[in-house]
Amino acid sequence: MKPRATNGSDTRETRRLATLLDVSQALSGTLNLKSALHRVLEILAKHHGAVRSMVTFLAEDGELTVEASDGLEEPQTVRYRIGEGITGRVVASSKPVVVPRVSREPELVHRAARRSESREELSFVCVPILVNRKAAGALGVDLRYKAERDFDSSVKFMGVVASMIAQALKVQRAVEDERRRLLAENTHLRQELRERYDFSNIIGTSGPVREMYEQVAQVAETNTTVLIRGESGTGKELIAHAIHYNSLRAKKPFVKVSCAALPESLIESELFGYEKGAFTGAQTRKKGRFELAEGGTLFLDEIGDINLGTQVKLLRVLQEREFERLGGTETTKVNVRLIAATNQDMEKTIAEGTFREDLYYRLNVFTIFVPPLRDRKADLLLLADHFVEKFSREHGKMIKRISTPAIDMLMSYHWPGNVRELENALERSVLVCDGQVIHGHHLPPSLQTAESSGTVTRVSMNDAVGAYEKDLIQDALKTTRGNRAKAARLLDTTERVFNYKVRKYAIDSARFRT
Ligand SMILES: Nc1ncnc2c1ncn2[C@@H]1O[C@H](COP(=O)(O)OP(=O)(O)OP(=O)(O)O)[C@@H](O)[C@H]1O
Ligand SMILES: [Mg+2]
Repeated sequence: MKPRATNGSDTRETRRLATLLDVSQALSGTLNLKSALHRVLEILAKHHGAVRSMVTFLAEDGELTVEASDGLEEPQTVRYRIGEGITGRVVASSKPVVVPRVSREPELVHRAARRSESREELSFVCVPILVNRKAAGALGVDLRYKAERDFDSSVKFMGVVASMIAQALKVQRAVEDERRRLLAENTHLRQELRERYDFSNIIGTSGPVREMYEQVAQVAETNTTVLIRGESGTGKELIAHAIHYNSLRAKKPFVKVSCAALPESLIESELFGYEKGAFTGAQTRKKGRFELAEGGTLFLDEIGDINLGTQVKLLRVLQEREFERLGGTETTKVNVRLIAATNQDMEKTIAEGTFREDLYYRLNVFTIFVPPLRDRKADLLLLADHFVEKFSREHGKMIKRISTPAIDMLMSYHWPGNVRELENALERSVLVCDGQVIHGHHLPPSLQTAESSGTVTRVSMNDAVGAYEKDLIQDALKTTRGNRAKAARLLDTTERVFNYKVRKYAIDSARFRT
């Protein structure tokens, strides 16, 4: 009868392997451990004859709670203390326990099982779920009693299942830890952002700046669309951040779109997103920035540079608060606060027809003008000190102050690049400064006057103007490929005057023809 026995155990081994395969698939198929465990217990019931089964986990308070069960009534209410009952003993000792005949085990506290109506004799196998060699819970299974059952092999098999569960539990805990870490980090970063864009970090006490603070404070808590206007480098983006982080939307995203940096063909898909297959290359559906900013603030930087087609779509979002993804038909509602910024002369772009007047009126609900630095010289020293301190710290220098002549140079410069230019100039000065004081010669060349740099040249005004005029004319001729009539128009002058100057400066216009 030997061959038959071998056959019998062979089929049993095959069945067990197949069960393990199913169990591993159930555990790896989802990140939801609870539902995976339910699947595992169902598999044990179906392919392994488990009448009842449950997985208990050890909670931090030392109690064992049922994480998943099969074949039990109201199992969620069952709790064991560690050491109590068989399951408690298994967890306390990290060793498996086998009860061949449940009916003969008076000590058995198997409360959930007692409720069941079944009266047939059962065997109970309980194995620990070991994580880092410590029991994190137990797997308990009731099997139909069979006198000839090989309990050693049952325990081994359940042990393998328990170790698979342990692995899944480990992964889940790692994921959970990582999620908690990211959440904490995110909260921390948000706090940092909020501090960074706090009003106290916007330097300035001059009249125009105080007026601006008031406007920001007024508008921050509303949902009003804000248009921030001002020259390049005046701090428009800083203001946009300050509005967001002082608004009720502070905990929601702040999403920025640099309209000038995006090519025309991309801006719409960036703003509104697209459906799969909307155009060649659109292999998956993509959310636009409007959707990413849901509940928060969308900052449209350099709005003056946006093309007319996109302007129409933006107007619709502003009016109806809804849009469609590119290549889609489904309308998406948005709850987004819009802040736009521009350094362009909007009235001029409207007159030239490159910006829609109706969109402008929609944006122009509340406008904040950020004054250029030259109009707020009172803030210049405050800002300069702030940047010197900031960059000294960043570059590990011990700079204490700015010398009086250097201050004079800062004050007499016209700062076309505004605060950004000042910031860059002072970073450079901090880098080249080798002592504790910033002197005039540490400042960039653009701030050095002819006098201070010793490069004064004597030239008559007539000669200088003449040279400039000649340059302009040659440039215009180059642009128009030697066409004098066009060149004259380009320079806003008459052909008669233009020809006179060409002769006066002995310019050979034929040279520019191609
Ligand atoms: N009042 C201020 N206090 C401190 N830093 C400022 C202030 N204003 C501007 N800055 C700094 O100057 C730099 C330029 O500011 P920002 O980028 O906001 O300018 P912008 O108006 O958006 O310029 P652009 O139009 O060129 O984009 C930033 O590094 C910002 O931190
Ligand atoms: Mg900007």
